[in-house]
Amino acid sequence: MTTTPWWRGAVVYQVYPRSMMDANNDGIGDILGIISKLDYIASLGVDAIWVSPFFKSPMKDFGYDISDYRDIDPIFGTLADFDELIAKAHARGIKIIIDQVLSHTSDQHAWFMESRESRDNAKADWYVWADPQPDGTPPNNWLAIFGGSAWEWEPRRCQYYLHNFLKTQPDLNYHCPQVQQQILSEVEFWLKRGVDGLRLDAIIFCFHDQLLRNNPAKPEEERRGRGFREDNPYAFQRHVYDCDRPENLQFLEALRKLMDRYPGTVTLGEIASEDSLKTMAEYTAGTSRLHMAYSFELLVDQLSGTYIRETIETLEKNLSEGWPCWSIGNHDVVRVMSRWGGINPSPQLAKTLNAMLMSLRGSICSYQGEELGLVEADIQQHELQDPYGITFWPRFKGRDGCRTPMPWTHQENHAGFSHAKTWLPIPSAHKECAVSLQENDSGSILNAYRKFMHWRKQQPCLRFGDIEFVAAADEYVVFIRSFGSEKLLCAFNFSASAQVISLDANYRLEKTEGHGCDSVSTEGKVLSVSAYSTVIARVL
Ligand code: BGC
Repeated sequence: MTTTPWWRGAVVYQVYPRSMMDANNDGIGDILGIISKLDYIASLGVDAIWVSPFFKSPMKDFGYDISDYRDIDPIFGTLADFDELIAKAHARGIKIIIDQVLSHTSDQHAWFMESRESRDNAKADWYVWADPQPDGTPPNNWLAIFGGSAWEWEPRRCQYYLHNFLKTQPDLNYHCPQVQQQILSEVEFWLKRGVDGLRLDAIIFCFHDQLLRNNPAKPEEERRGRGFREDNPYAFQRHVYDCDRPENLQFLEALRKLMDRYPGTVTLGEIASEDSLKTMAEYTAGTSRLHMAYSFELLVDQLSGTYIRETIETLEKNLSEGWPCWSIGNHDVVRVMSRWGGINPSPQLAKTLNAMLMSLRGSICSYQGEELGLVEADIQQHELQDPYGITFWPRFKGRDGCRTPMPWTHQENHAGFSHAKTWLPIPSAHKECAVSLQENDSGSILNAYRKFMHWRKQQPCLRFGDIEFVAAADEYVVFIRSFGSEKLLCAFNFSASAQVISLDANYRLEKTEGHGCDSVSTEGKVLSVSAYSTVIARVL
C-alpha cells in the first residue's frame, strides 16, 4: 500500500475561494478565509483541496480569465498568504491542488496586449489570429460556449482572434512552441512553491485545427444529453476542429515530464468533449499523460441509476491504466440536491448522494456545500454576476446559484461568512443548513459526511478496489467493490420507498445511513433498503 500514490482513491474537496470565507470583510472570500477554515476542512476527512483560481484577473469570468499566472489577485490576498495556505494545509495532512487555466488568458494579460498590437511583434503568434473572409465575416463557423461567434475583431491588426469562452478570454496558440514553453514555466512556478497538483481547466481546448475547418452541424436527433440547451447554438455543432485535437496529447506528455520532476504531484484534467468518456481514457492512458481526469458525465440533470451504471461501466471498459475521478457537482452546474432532488428534496437524499459518490471507484471531487446538502440558490436577475447567465437569462440563469457563500453560523449576519454585504446573496434555506446548526446535530448531513469519510479511510476496498455493478431498478445504484479477497456490497436507494434486491451470496451488514435496511441477517440473500438509504454489507 505504501507505493500507492496519495491521490489514488483520494477525496478532493473543491473550494470556490470567493465563497469559502471572507477574512477582510469586503463581501468576497479570500485565502486567509480559507486558512481560517482549514480545521473545518480537515474535520471532513478529505485528502486534498482543489482551490478554484485565485490568480490576478479582471474577474470577467471570476478568475478563469488570468492576467498574471504568477501572482495572486489582491481580492484574494498575496503570495505570502498562499505560502501560508500550503504550509498550514500540509501541517494538517491536506494536499493543495490549484486550478490552472492554460488554454486561454485574460485579454488584460501582457502577452495578449502585446500580441494584439501588430502582426509582427514578438508575441504576434501567441494567440490564434486569422484574417476575415472576403465578405468581412469571421474566418469560420466556430462558436463560443458563452454565446455568439468564437471570433472577435481586433482593429489594430485588422484580424479576428479566437475565444472559446468570453471575448475577454483569448485562446492561446499552442501551435507556437514558445507558448508551450512559457506555459510550462508558469506551471513550474507553482510546483516550485510546493503545490501538490493541478486541476487543468478546459484542457481539451489547447489546440485548434490550423486549417480552421468549419465544425460540421450536429443532426437534430443527436442534440440531446448532457449540457444540451436549445437556447445555446454551441450544441448545434460537432466540436471536432475547435477542440480535442490530436496535438493536445503531445502537450500533455510534455506537461507530464515536468510533473514527474516533482514527485508526488498530480494532474486532474477537466474533460467535456464530444465523447468525454473516450477522451478521459485517452488523456490518462499509460504513464506519460494525465494522472486522472473527470468529466461532466455525472453532472446531468436527471438522477437515474441505470445512467450512472452505464456511464461508469463505459468508462471502466475504456480505461486501461488510467484512473477515474468522479464528481456530481461543481461551480459550473446547478447544485446536485436541486438537479437530482427537485424542489424541497429530502435532506436524507444528500446523505445517500454523498455516500454513493464516496463509494465509487476512483478519486472523488466533492464540491463545497455538498457536505451540508445545500440546494441551488435562486438568484434574481438584478443579482446576477455570471456573464454566462446574464447572456442567456431567463432561459438559463447561469452558474451563480451554486456559487453563493458558505453558511457558517445560523444567527449571524451574512451567515458568519462576512461582516459586509456578500457578493452573492445567501438564501435563507442555506442558513437553515448552517455549519453551526449541523455541528451539534448527530444526525445531520454534515456529521453523516464526516462519519462516512472517516470510515471510508479504513476501507481499502472503497479506496482502491474494483467495481462491479449489480442489476437494479432505476432509483437504485448497487455495486460490489472488491480488493483482494474482500468484497463490499454498496446499495443506495434514491427513491421514497423501500427497495428489495436479491443477491447470490451471504452478507453481513457493515454500515447503514438513513433508515438503513429493514431486513438483514448473516444468512440473508435478500436485502431490503429503506427510502433514501445507504447499506454497505460485507459479502461473506
Ligand atoms: C471552468 C469554468 C470556466 C471555463 C472557462 C471551465 O470549464 O470550470 O468555470 O468558465 O472553464 O475557463
